[in-house]
Amino acid sequence: MRSLFLVLIALLGCSLSSGRILFDDELRELTEFLRLQMQCGYPAKGVPILAPAQLPYKEVDVQADAFSGRGNFTNISIVGLDSFEFSQLQWNNIFHTIKFDVSIPSIRLKAENYKFDLTRFLGATASKKCNGVFDVELINFRANGSFVLRPSSLTNGLHITRWNVDWQLGKAISQITGIGSKYLEKLINFILQDFLQLLINDNPEEISQFMEQLLVAPLNAVFGNVAWYEITAIILGLVNGVLPVEPIC
Ligand SMILES: *[C@@H]1O[C@H](CO)[C@@H](O)[C@H](O)[C@H]1NC(C)=O
Ligand SMILES: *[C@@H]1O[C@H](CO)[C@@H](O)[C@H](O)[C@H]1NC(C)=O
Ligand SMILES: *[C@@H]1O[C@H](CO)[C@@H](O)[C@H](O)[C@H]1NC(C)=O
Repeated sequence: MRSLFLVLIALLGCSLSSGRILFDDELRELTEFLRLQMQCGYPAKGVPILAPAQLPYKEVDVQADAFSGRGNFTNISIVGLDSFEFSQLQWNNIFHTIKFDVSIPSIRLKAENYKFDLTRFLGATASKKCNGVFDVELINFRANGSFVLRPSSLTNGLHITRWNVDWQLGKAISQITGIGSKYLEKLINFILQDFLQLLINDNPEEISQFMEQLLVAPLNAVFGNVAWYEITAIILGLVNGVLPVEPIC
C-alpha cells in the first residue's frame, strides 16, 4: 500500500513537472517485454499466444460485389507478429498520448487446409469449389499514429480514446495450392494487390476506423482490469523491476 502511495506521489510530481516526451529505455524495455510475452499470451486477461498466433478453425463468408463465397480455414498460423520494429515510440505524460511508428517486416498467414465455395468472381457468377493449402505473406506492414490512454477511474481500468493511426502495406506474396487454387490465388491476388493495398494505402481513415474496431475493443477489455497508476508507473519506468526479463507463461 505504501509503495503504491509513493508511486502516486511520484506520478503526480512527474505530471506537474514537465511535458517531457520519452522514447526511452523504459518504453523500449516495455516493447521488448511484450515481444517475449507474445510467446505466452496472457490467459488471465484473455490474450492468446500471438507468436505464433494459432487458430484451429475459422469460417469465412464473403459477400462483395466483385466476389462472394463461403468456406473455412483449418489449422491457421500467423507468424511474424513479434518481429515488430518501432522507429518511434513516445509517451506524453501530460496529454497521456502514445505516439508510435511501427513496422512488421513479414507476417505469414498459413492454413493447412482451406475449403472455399466461390459463387461470384470478378463480378460474374461462378461455381467453383476450392480446396488446398493457404499461404500468404504480407511484407512491410507499417502503422503510425497516436492514441490517448485514459483512466476509467484512478484505481480500476484504462481505455483508449482518440485513435488516429495510418496503415500501409508494402507488398503481398501468395503461394496458395490445391484444387481451384488458381481461382483462389487470383482472388487473393486481386484482394491483396488491387484491393487490400489500395484499400490500406489509399484509405487511411477507413482502415484506421476498421483497425480501431478490430483492436481497440479487445485492448480495452484487457485494460479494464489494469489500474491507471500501474500502467503509468510502467510507462514512466518509475518502478524498478516491474518488468520481468523472461516471459511469464
Ligand atoms: C467448410 O467449407 C466447405 C465449403 O463451403 C463446406 O463444404 C464444409 O461443410 C465446411 N465445413 C464445416 C465443418 O463447416
Ligand atoms: C490440424 O492439426 C491437427 C493437430 O495437429 C491434425 O490432427 C490435423 O490433421 C490438422 N488438419 C489439417 C487439415 O491439416
Ligand atoms: C504517418 O506517417 C506519414 C509519413 O510517413 C505522415 O504523413 C502521416 O501523417 C502519419 N500518420 C499519422 C496518423 O500520424
